[in-house]
Amino acid sequence: MYACIRILRRQFSTQSAERGKQWAGHAAMKHLIQSKPSVIGLGSGSTIVYAIEYLKQHPFSNDVVCIPTSFQTRQLILQNKLKMGSLDNYPIIDMTIDGADEIDLELNAIKGGGACLFQERLVAQASDRFILVADDRKRSDQLGTKWIKGVPVEVMPIALTTVQYKLERMFSTASIKLRMATPTDKAGPVVTDNGNLILDCHFGPISDPGLLYKEIKCLSGVLDVGLFCKMAETAFIGNNQEDKGEII
Ligand code: 5RP
Repeated sequence: MYACIRILRRQFSTQSAERGKQWAGHAAMKHLIQSKPSVIGLGSGSTIVYAIEYLKQHPFSNDVVCIPTSFQTRQLILQNKLKMGSLDNYPIIDMTIDGADEIDLELNAIKGGGACLFQERLVAQASDRFILVADDRKRSDQLGTKWIKGVPVEVMPIALTTVQYKLERMFSTASIKLRMATPTDKAGPVVTDNGNLILDCHFGPISDPGLLYKEIKCLSGVLDVGLFCKMAETAFIGNNQEDKGEII
């Protein structure tokens, strides 16, 4: 009986999260199309799928060049028969939409829940305008309080052990774990699109995300850190209960 209620509750919360993601993905893409960009960046994750769904239904999709941020997004661009570009051909992007795992009111974000943080940042930094999309479970007053998996740090395999020890010494109260492909650990670690590994670093509430980003990013062997500080101009946050949301 209680197990049944738990399953129903979980199903309800998953369905309502999808409603929030759909609103955010559709609203952000509608906003993007209004400015008629010629080159756009497409982030990674499940919320972006809704943005691409909206784009595909619009005639504008025949003209715009899409730059992917991951293997997943590359496949979505191919499946939806959109025009694919790369940063080599299009080093400057008009506007990028990307998901996030946690967003604060100053538009700092934790990203990398899908392990695509490095290419996501490359595309975001090449973009004149950067927009985040998420459902309202991700909205936070302080980073590190909502996203329970911690800040992802992408590390080269050769540097894994030494970087992990270094981080543990630098942040003695943090919990730092190598991301595994399955909870049972049997499938081995998650390997990123760049052939690297992910350390999920749980620091608790983060008082200065910009400083934390700099402290970790400068370590040799670290390719990127999933803290995107003040890069976004706007975030579209979908309400999980109703077909509406807010723009921050
Ligand atoms: C992948 C990301 C994603 O954008 C982030 O994890 C959000 O994903 P979702 O839209 O599925 O919640 O940063 O590296």
